[in-house]
Amino acid sequence: MHSFSSRLIVWQHTHGRHDLPWQGADAYHVWLSEIMLQQTQVATVIPYYRRFTALFPTIAALAAATEEQVLAHWSGLGYYARGRNLHRAAQIIMEKYHGEFPREFGQILELPGIGRSTAAAICALAWHERRAILDGNVKRVLARYCGISGSTGEKAVEARLWQQAEALLPQHDIAAYIQAQMDLGATLCTRSRPKCGVCPVSSDCVAFQSGRVSELPTPRQRKAVPKRNATFLLLMHGRDILLEKRPGSGIWGGLWCPPQFDNEEQAKDWFVTNGMDADHGERLEIFTHTFTHFKLHITPLNIQLARKPLRAAQEGIVWLSVEDALQAAIPTPVRALLNKLRRG
Ligand code: ADE
Repeated sequence: MHSFSSRLIVWQHTHGRHDLPWQGADAYHVWLSEIMLQQTQVATVIPYYRRFTALFPTIAALAAATEEQVLAHWSGLGYYARGRNLHRAAQIIMEKYHGEFPREFGQILELPGIGRSTAAAICALAWHERRAILDGNVKRVLARYCGISGSTGEKAVEARLWQQAEALLPQHDIAAYIQAQMDLGATLCTRSRPKCGVCPVSSDCVAFQSGRVSELPTPRQRKAVPKRNATFLLLMHGRDILLEKRPGSGIWGGLWCPPQFDNEEQAKDWFVTNGMDADHGERLEIFTHTFTHFKLHITPLNIQLARKPLRAAQEGIVWLSVEDALQAAIPTPVRALLNKLRRG
């Protein structure tokens, strides 16, 4: 029987994806696509990737942009640390490597936002270096094919998966093989209802042969998702809204948001303390935004101010028209609220 890798490579030829916009691209574009594809599906990534590469066609262009511009074009993709790290890495590449994407695996791994699997994917896809990857899809494929049980998040399980990933590497056609693993995981060896009937490696897949496909990989212990509440103060003056820039490296660090509080009481205290004066206000419908690790129940208070407060002259606070705010670096729930305000 042909090896695991040779069957995957043959399968990739006829059944894999060949028209992804980053395929066959240089290291910069492969890097950008791999970062966008972390935690995000191909179909979502493609329009972001196209806009981003049109605006920032080179590492130099990306490095020369402001963080603000980068995050504005990341707006809606989520996991904004990816965008901040990408921008920082581009600046490091300008300083340390004269704008040339570094050629060594070790140098790539040192860049912010790049882990072992992403560094390996860049080396394999851009330069055809013989390196193993292990992202979420590949973990699932290998856990099944090799019959490795235990949660793939556990250190010992992950170490075994890396070992297998290295052992199964082909001598040639590395880029096609890496892409084949990703495509197999995304299209056939899916988490639920995998298509084992048309899989090129089912004949020696341990999970398939032992009837354990639905048990592998072992699901991680699901903890109840914690719920948190927040109150957003939508401070309006005519068509303008007040937004604050979130500090630092939190979930929405660097993004523009309405002032946020734990509850309505705190929001009202702040409003009064800052000498604001409302013409009228209303509570909009509560809605939920789901993050990976918690759910946020958001109560928006829509307040029309009698006059613009002086406080808004501070750094990190802006008044923007709703239309301009929609073009800024804002997270998805803020976009939803602004769209509602624009329509209303
Ligand atoms: N997911 C992560 N990297 C990918 C790639 N290069 N192609 C398709 N899906 C991916």
